[in-house]
Amino acid sequence: MAEPLRIALAGLGTVGTGVIRLLETNRDMVERRAGRAIEIVAVNARDRAKDRGVDLSPYFWVDDMQAMATRADVDVVVELVGGSDGPALTLARTALDAGKGFVTANKAMVAHHGMELAELAAIRNAPFAFEAAVAGGIPVVKGLREGTAANALTRIYGILNGTCNYILSEMERTGADFDTMLVAAQEKGFAEADPSFDIEGVDAAHKLAILAAIGFGTRIDFGAVHTEGITQVSATDIAQADALGYVVRLVGIATLDDREDGSHHLMQRVRPCLVPFRHPLAAVTGPTNAVVAEGDFSGRLLFQGAGAGDRPTASAVVADLIDFARGQAGAPFSVPVATLEKPIAGDPGEREGRDYIRFTVADRPGVLAEITAAMRDAGVSIESLIQRGRDHDGGEVQVAMVTHEGPERCVTQALALLDGSPSLTAPPLVMPILKD
Ligand SMILES: NC(=O)c1ccc[n+]([C@@H]2O[C@H](COP(=O)([O-])OP(=O)(O)OC[C@H]3O[C@@H](n4cnc5c(N)ncnc54)[C@H](OP(=O)(O)O)[C@@H]3O)[C@@H](O)[C@H]2O)c1
Repeated sequence: MAEPLRIALAGLGTVGTGVIRLLETNRDMVERRAGRAIEIVAVNARDRAKDRGVDLSPYFWVDDMQAMATRADVDVVVELVGGSDGPALTLARTALDAGKGFVTANKAMVAHHGMELAELAAIRNAPFAFEAAVAGGIPVVKGLREGTAANALTRIYGILNGTCNYILSEMERTGADFDTMLVAAQEKGFAEADPSFDIEGVDAAHKLAILAAIGFGTRIDFGAVHTEGITQVSATDIAQADALGYVVRLVGIATLDDREDGSHHLMQRVRPCLVPFRHPLAAVTGPTNAVVAEGDFSGRLLFQGAGAGDRPTASAVVADLIDFARGQAGAPFSVPVATLEKPIAGDPGEREGRDYIRFTVADRPGVLAEITAAMRDAGVSIESLIQRGRDHDGGEVQVAMVTHEGPERCVTQALALLDGSPSLTAPPLVMPILKD
């Protein structure tokens, strides 16, 4: 049997200890599949004294994380620390520069610095992989990089954040409001103490930017992702959506439009959307993730599973290590980084679709007429209009409408016409209706 693949593990939290447990539990099977043993030779975290529920005595504790990146007895550095910059990024740069393999679960770092790291990996001929950075245990990076490699993908979309999906699907199940379900998610360990990255859509945006790059062969452009979270979604919206035949999900959607003039327009958006009951994403509940890829020959593919947690995420990390052990790392973004296209950021106004729009308005005569006039003047055609939730104090009502298919630009114009109107007591919420 070949020499073992020797790894240094930085970060011994949820995922790091999961990797240790997996390599201990499935040691023989991993070795057989990898064709060689995968051995942890060095570990590091902040607090050496902390009880992590795993036996660290077989491994050499390194006090300085960065020193692991240049050790002669290390082939691959595994970064499970987190943070887009700081020590994780320094470790990545040092390890790749030293020609070490580098595996990470850090979506924030890959979304912000993935291009630089892939370029460094190419220069040093060092393997670089991040399956665990997107959708935890779901092998979607590999699925897009390898499984759909023969297809032109036109659309990649999905439920990329388990915290938001848990909150929205529990709001749907219980009728409770957002704040109540956020607390429940925190109590169950599905949301961090500071949940802002999740509920504001940033975490999903990191993952979407990575998937778009892999699936479309384009350079990562995280700054171009239009991101909205779920904090404005009310129990009333969920009930309205249900009455209309939809569920509400936070969906990341990337579309690539290859124009006749040869230009490529990449639209990347993370938004709460209305998903038809019959769509496979409507059945995705709780902290589950799901990614849909639409290929010209493969048709619609659905990848679904646990998007987080120690075991699923460790499964993805070790899958990358097995690839490295086999000498099958491949190009991290499916094609050599130097050949990734630089697309033009898509214009959201060009989107053709139907929208759900919810207004919170003063409960007095003439308000509905004002809203419908603004819609008419901007060229928005209304398919249905529902007024619900009359406030017993006579203060506010919620008016929801669904538009006919049309350019998003018109909806934006209509809302601009209503901007500043005393009839509107809160900013309107627009949620696109996901196309089948
Ligand atoms: N948790 C998941 O389900 C999941 C899923 C997919 C991807 N990820 C990604 O995986 C990575 C790790 O996540 P996690 O949930 O395992 O995080 P975690 O439980 O907070 O663990 C982080 C580890 O990094 C160590 N660390 C933090 N700052 C450090 C520093 N300055 N120097 C040395 N060590 C430091 C911590 O040390 P101490 O323990 O000593 O404090 C801890 O062991 C993140 O990038 C995350 O986005 C996580």
